[in-house]
Amino acid sequence: MRTLFINIKELLQVREPETIKISGREMQTMPSIKNAFLLVDDDKIVSFGPMVAANKNKGGRVVDVEGKMILPAWCDSHTHLVYAGNREQEFVDRINGLTYEEIANKGGGILNSAKTLQDTSEEDLYQQSEKRLKAVMQLGTGAIEIKSGYGLTAEAEIKMLKVIQRLKKKYPVTIKSTFLGAHAVPAEYKNDPKAYVDHVIETILPQVAEADLAEYIDVFCEKGYFSVADMEAILTASKAYGLTPKVHVNQFNAIGGVPSAVKHKALSVDHLEVMNPKDIQALKGSETMPVGLPLCSFFLGIPYTPAREIINSGLPFALATDYNPGSSPSGNMNQVVATACIKMKITPEEAINAATLNGAYAMGIAETHGSITIGKKANLIITKPIPSYGYLPYDFGNNNVDKVMIGGEFVGEE
Ligand code: NIG
Ligand code: FE
Repeated sequence: MRTLFINIKELLQVREPETIKISGREMQTMPSIKNAFLLVDDDKIVSFGPMVAANKNKGGRVVDVEGKMILPAWCDSHTHLVYAGNREQEFVDRINGLTYEEIANKGGGILNSAKTLQDTSEEDLYQQSEKRLKAVMQLGTGAIEIKSGYGLTAEAEIKMLKVIQRLKKKYPVTIKSTFLGAHAVPAEYKNDPKAYVDHVIETILPQVAEADLAEYIDVFCEKGYFSVADMEAILTASKAYGLTPKVHVNQFNAIGGVPSAVKHKALSVDHLEVMNPKDIQALKGSETMPVGLPLCSFFLGIPYTPAREIINSGLPFALATDYNPGSSPSGNMNQVVATACIKMKITPEEAINAATLNGAYAMGIAETHGSITIGKKANLIITKPIPSYGYLPYDFGNNNVDKVMIGGEFVGEE
């Protein structure tokens, strides 16, 4: 099916195919074409340019988007969208004064979600997750990474990863899957956390890899969860299975996870609410993408990732939702972009670059996603009529997404 968009007020994030990530000062740029057309054939972008060059006689449908803008769909490189139930009670407990850490120490937090998930059937888990995936597609997400990590047994981790595979097969949205067996130490291993690391390495990881259920490996490297040595052991073992690291580091404490992840050639280091100069130094000259998760900071009331400092150091920066039941029960990338501008003090250009092309890089799909480039996937957001793209984060909390196209089809019409 061909679709020709005409009278696009501004076509945003137009990039050359060689640009696979945007760093430092360059993040302030937002290459665009005003009064443009865009032609999609099947699931790809095949041509675009100024309206004067549009050829309306090429067949297929013509969509007049007068007054509206088009940008690449969001690339959400860090989520835990597959989970069971919710943690509303812990939310209220935090309002009443308990901290995230205190709740986790009482057996709540990740272990609470793991218990619920272990008691949920694969079908039920699929239904709960599918509902969330459909909702984020409507909000403009065209590619998404989803982690395991609420199973914490071989059986339950595999159940999660199978649900991710089923979603991958059914929906046009691009999905990348990550094995996060080392998300928290299960209660049975409380007195011997090292034995759980061994269990992940010797038992769960081989099963996940043999069934080809994951592309990436993740570890929650944090005090009270997994040490740098634990992470290194898991990343080293994963290498033999061809799994690339994308890791949770520096959420509450800087314990050396960033330099270690860079050394293990991580594709991304995510969270980074607490950064020291050594962490910034380690990222310089590396291929690792720093990823900030502003909705987690917002929801938990913890510091925001120092995005300004990261970008001012010449580094690239990506944004993601961290969609999960404990620290960010929202998968809304529009809200991520707005919160990053408001709280991290990054500009609309920087935030849009972080949520599109740099997000694509952080999930290994920058060659096919994240920008308006010939040959890339036709994953597009068509905005409502807006005065300028900076209006998107400015008008926070309001939905300015009119239509979403994923793989050449309009979401909701397939
Ligand atoms: O990215 N930090 C580790 N994992 C998740 C949240 C886990 C939870 O509270 O369920 C995160 O914030
Ligand atoms: Fe996370």
